[in-house]
Amino acid sequence: MVSPSATSPRFFNLDEHAYAAAETRCRTLLARMTLAEKIGQMSQFTSDRDTTGPSIREGYQEDIRAGRVGSIFNAFDAGFTRELQTLAVNESRLGIPLLFGYDVVHGFRTIFPIPLAMASSWHLDNVEAAAHIAAREAAAAGIHWAFAPMVDVSRDARWGRVMEGAGEDPLLSSRMASAQVRGYQGSDPRALDSVAACVKHYVGYGAVEAGRDYNSVDLSERVMRSVHLPSHQAAINAGVASVMTSFNTVDGVPASCNPLLLRQILRDEWHFQGPVVTDYTAIMELIEHGVAADPRDAARQAVNAGVDMDMQDGYFLDHLAELVEADEVSAARIDEATLRILILKDVLGLFEAPYRYCDEAREAATLLAPEHRRKAREIAQQSMVLLENNGLLPLSPAPKRLAVIGELADSQADLLGPWHGNGQVQDACTILQALQNRLSDAEVSYHAGVPIHIHDTEPHTNEIAEAATLAQQADVAVVVVGEKEPMSGEAGSRTDLGLPGQQLALALAVIASGTPTVVVTLSGRPLVLTELAQQPAALLHGWWPGSEGAEALVDLLLGEASPCARLPMSFPRNVGQLPLYYGQLPTGRPVFRENPDPRYSSKYIDSPNTPLYPFGYGLSYTHIDYAQPQLDKTTLAGADDQITLAIELTNTGERDGVEVVQLYLRDPVASISRPVRELIDFQRVEIAAGACQRITFVITAEQLGFIGSDLCWRCEPGQFELHIGAHVEDTQALTFHYEP
Ligand code: NOJ
Repeated sequence: MVSPSATSPRFFNLDEHAYAAAETRCRTLLARMTLAEKIGQMSQFTSDRDTTGPSIREGYQEDIRAGRVGSIFNAFDAGFTRELQTLAVNESRLGIPLLFGYDVVHGFRTIFPIPLAMASSWHLDNVEAAAHIAAREAAAAGIHWAFAPMVDVSRDARWGRVMEGAGEDPLLSSRMASAQVRGYQGSDPRALDSVAACVKHYVGYGAVEAGRDYNSVDLSERVMRSVHLPSHQAAINAGVASVMTSFNTVDGVPASCNPLLLRQILRDEWHFQGPVVTDYTAIMELIEHGVAADPRDAARQAVNAGVDMDMQDGYFLDHLAELVEADEVSAARIDEATLRILILKDVLGLFEAPYRYCDEAREAATLLAPEHRRKAREIAQQSMVLLENNGLLPLSPAPKRLAVIGELADSQADLLGPWHGNGQVQDACTILQALQNRLSDAEVSYHAGVPIHIHDTEPHTNEIAEAATLAQQADVAVVVVGEKEPMSGEAGSRTDLGLPGQQLALALAVIASGTPTVVVTLSGRPLVLTELAQQPAALLHGWWPGSEGAEALVDLLLGEASPCARLPMSFPRNVGQLPLYYGQLPTGRPVFRENPDPRYSSKYIDSPNTPLYPFGYGLSYTHIDYAQPQLDKTTLAGADDQITLAIELTNTGERDGVEVVQLYLRDPVASISRPVRELIDFQRVEIAAGACQRITFVITAEQLGFIGSDLCWRCEPGQFELHIGAHVEDTQALTFHYEP
């Protein structure tokens, strides 16, 4: 967890001098601007090139000419952005260049696995590399500003947007957030292979009630600060250039007009200096939330709370001037917001060279470059989680007769996943094609199985029987089942997390044919796979793996690469368990204690409490043996002291392997109830077959701290437990004391 006391850097990692110089330049410009031009800078509209929300504003080109807009989003490619930039630079009175924003969430043209999948790799260097490639491609196509990373911690897989984040854990989410900010932004804001990042959604969106998108959120401030804010703060500490507010309320106050979030925490506590933009029409939605009487009131509340830029509803444009004249919004607030936006444009070099990102030659040479595709394939290999293996995988020797089954096996679109930027379906090859190409000596047959519709109640008996017969005639069957792209992502909440339609029946019938079967699942969220898990089949969860996902999957199936991913989110047995996460508080009636009448313990009468597959879980093609961990001492004496934990790992298998060693903490007695486990560190280590490796973790007082009921950070003396192992339910325990 990031200590709340960390305060710098505050914007793009600029030092004081660079920031002050940019500010001075922009103040000179600000002095020449009319109120209307300032409000124009604070307004953002989508182009008609792409839509990522419910409304489009007609005539945005005219807004650009008139200086009524500071940023356009959903406009990309060097030619189109140049065309729009020309309107701003040549035709608006002051020629202030536009800032082009876009949702570059897991790639721009080369599409990487969805962020939840990348989090499964626990490979922070590669996550950074993916963001950097995404930035390089986007920047070559005219984009200055990526609406990413999305860092919402989420513990409810019904919410479709879990696919955009790093899952349920604050520490993993924080490390993913920093890695992505580093990747998008690089070290120099003017470099042409980087873009400004925008951490989103600030904050609490991952806790929408019942997993229903856009729903309200009820969090105590302590839980918000302990679970949901750390990943945002990590992005700020990594130098993120901007922040996007979330749609939801937090304790009754929508995030887009929330002074606690936007003033106190972001500015006063974290000293963040970049602009805050709302999410799509979020100011308009203040009316529906029931906190604003009308558009004018909504604009007033948002700007006074600290919003600098209004995405898409035009409420700032329509009402701020009048609000300033009526003294309901201060001119100083308008200047503050405008200045932040101008400074962002300045540090990106747009005032000097407004077309520096619009370069057709660079665009042609950069998009989908072979090294980008190679990286996407490597990361996809590292992101797929092997959930079950009955010895079938890897398929070695390769089968002579292979049956490939399932509509998703023959789909390009469903490999990319939502928020795939400018990713093109034709850039991806299907799993079926990849298998056909790679097993050119084999007989590869295919059956599409059943259609994939949420509400499909048809039994599809014939199709299922045909698919099972096809499987029977093969040496091995590969069944690809799961969600189609629109079934997760924004507005993709579900109440049933099973395989949509009759896909479960299809997979069970293929397995029942007796042919050794690999079930590959694709989705944007944890699924309920309880029945499949009981079958004699291998189960590989591929998420949505991106442009190179099919090749990467075949690499794993054939053993040309080994699975090494670990779940960043618990997989439930049953949707009724949700929200489900490992870091729960203990209850007063735990199930594992001796209890004279176990009925009266905290449990379900029809399901275990535990997930089907726990956080941190994933199999590989080898076995890593953990020796007994050792501490160099058992007392931590104070804030500057440290304890070293050492453990030896041996790869006892015949293949090289990767282990994600996870270190959890438990504070058994504290002033408030503490989680039963809390991830405090991890290391991803590569261990050659037969090799032995000693790794160490350093434990300091900072990792023991938490936010108390007075909302102050504290570190309480006493005994602590450490749990180290391969996943949260497979650990060895040690204890030590903190005695400052
Ligand atoms: C709505 C989404 O919530 C947000 O993540 C995205 O950046 C904006 N639309 C812009 O597309």
